[in-house]
Amino acid sequence: MAGEDRIEYLAEAVRYHRELYYNHSAPEISDSEFDAMWDELTKLDPDNKVLHEVGPEPLPGTVKVEHLFPMRSLDKGISDEDIIHFVTQSTFGGKRYLAQPKLDGSALSLEYIAGNLHRAATRGSGERGEDVTLNAKLVANVPSRLNRPVDCHIRGEVVMPLAVFEEKYRDVSPNPRNLCSGALRQKHGDGKADAADLVFWAYDVKFPNESPDCTNDSELLIWLQSAGVEPAPWEIFESDSPQIDMIDHTKKWSKSRATYEYEIDGLVFKLDNLEQRENLGMTAHHPRWALAWKFPSQEAISVLLGVDWQTGRTGAVTPVARIAPQMVGGVTVENVTLHNVGEVERLGIKIGDKVKITRRGDVIPKIIENLGKAAASDISNRVHADGSQFTGKLEFAEISIPNLCPACNRTLEKDGAFLRCISLECSARTARSLTYWCRTLEMDGIGEKLIEALLDSELVSTIADLYKLSHSQLTSLERIGDKSAYNVLDELAKTRSMPLSKFLHALGIERIGPEVAATISQYFISLQKLLVWVEGGDNEELTTIDGIGEKVAAIFRDGINKRKELIHALSEIIDVTDELEAATGIFDGRSFCITGSLSRPRKEIALAIKNAGGKVVGSVSGNLDILVAGEKAGSKLAKAESLGVKVWSEDELFSQIAEPRNSPKTLFEF
Ligand code: IVH
Repeated sequence: MAGEDRIEYLAEAVRYHRELYYNHSAPEISDSEFDAMWDELTKLDPDNKVLHEVGPEPLPGTVKVEHLFPMRSLDKGISDEDIIHFVTQSTFGGKRYLAQPKLDGSALSLEYIAGNLHRAATRGSGERGEDVTLNAKLVANVPSRLNRPVDCHIRGEVVMPLAVFEEKYRDVSPNPRNLCSGALRQKHGDGKADAADLVFWAYDVKFPNESPDCTNDSELLIWLQSAGVEPAPWEIFESDSPQIDMIDHTKKWSKSRATYEYEIDGLVFKLDNLEQRENLGMTAHHPRWALAWKFPSQEAISVLLGVDWQTGRTGAVTPVARIAPQMVGGVTVENVTLHNVGEVERLGIKIGDKVKITRRGDVIPKIIENLGKAAASDISNRVHADGSQFTGKLEFAEISIPNLCPACNRTLEKDGAFLRCISLECSARTARSLTYWCRTLEMDGIGEKLIEALLDSELVSTIADLYKLSHSQLTSLERIGDKSAYNVLDELAKTRSMPLSKFLHALGIERIGPEVAATISQYFISLQKLLVWVEGGDNEELTTIDGIGEKVAAIFRDGINKRKELIHALSEIIDVTDELEAATGIFDGRSFCITGSLSRPRKEIALAIKNAGGKVVGSVSGNLDILVAGEKAGSKLAKAESLGVKVWSEDELFSQIAEPRNSPKTLFEF
């Protein structure tokens, strides 16, 4: 090949294989073959654009990022004296401080080049973090482009609103912090939380080249706002004795912490003037110009009096410990979580043991340590939240771990550290799934209370029963009048028709939120086709969909399987309408099935078909348009032939959609 042609060929090949490797997890060549092409291109044309352009984003966690500006820790304080000491040692002429809430989430660094989001990384060791660009882009208020065409590194905290945590994730994780770091680092949406449920709050910005002309950090925060990034809220303290107001500030926040929208674990005080910061400098560990004041410890000691087991929406059976009343962080606590059966075993805890409890960073107080057998004096002189005297007695017993579901009495299954009730008819799960259905479909006036009343009166035991309710049945319930009953019936009537995506979301299958439900619906289009897949298709077929990993595919299939009866009953009452098709191309509306051994990875072939507007299904039926058959194609080929379905070879397929494969252009240019 002549020089120019060879360069062109190599450049295309590098781009093509890089795309396959990073974005489709489907490399066609080995790393060393790729490196050889890269090296050859570097030798022939060191300035070639491909070698320098911003490549496709790697999957989270696969690439380490060296922080150009290290992400430091902060010095910590807990007392008034710590604040006084900090102010004394950091004021040289300037007495202007800035205070921000210390957000308890996951630190994130956003690197912008000429105003475009180039890379996002976790804090990691502070020197090196993990590349999480793909997930960071899903955080709603992380802009892909700034309003200013500058190079900068914006630092901040990714947090989850507590309301979202309460509504969607309380069953899944003890605190929002773990969910944040998990959501940033997940691959293929296989984490516990959706990155779209997170919010980014900036607290720092660094400029490798030109920087705006600012004297104070607070001006930089205003600059961030103008650039389109939300800074964490701040307050300024400027006086001869700022420490007095700063201490006052900690008292105020200690009170309002409980009602703040986000979990915070303290306040950060920072000298505002940038030059003074420079003068003060850093220790090896932290800057001398900032102090993280942490809320006083929220740990306390109490005694375990008993354990109640509760079943949640996902079927997880959680041990809730009853303890002698104890103040923790300003609140009297009598119930704390023990998370799961694994935790009970790990702590080796018994009723009558003295326990250490904490609320730090966790919304729900929890037992963190077993301090051994309690004495009678450990429970004396305790008062309930209402001020009345606690009169409980100290008893000693083993914690009995249930074999049967506390809500429905069916046999429980052990699933790692969890005990689970797998029955869908379980009343605890039913109440939650009915509420979820009504909430997802935005039915006004059908809340938890009404649902409980309907279940208690046995008027309803499944979602489908809701649609069979009559006006007189509703008014037979206490506190439901004529008007409310009509309202409930109206609301139900409004949901008698819905697209597949809404239907799947409202079923409340674990991990199948609105986005995943929409993606899956785009693929199946109709409920009927989805049910055919559940009968015969394989999970692998679903993983050909962008954003659906093996885990989600398996959970989804399992969730549908368990709800088959319900889905059938609902489909008789509700019109589940077909999803509108998305992709367009020469295979529009045609369905394909892939079988046998082929020269390209199956995912790649499926992607090519999808990109040309076709659909890939897992089984052969009379409705199938084309079977793509490789060598050693077995029963699927025989079935297709017997049904008269068209059969194509791999080459025939690609001759329709692209040029032959030895041109690296093929896959991504049709
Ligand atoms: S300033 C030089 N401001 O706390 C360090 N940090 O313990 C600049 N954090 O890794 C950090 N809220 O993730 C700063 N308003 C805030 C913060 C904050 C939370 C976190 C941050 C940092 C950790 C240090």
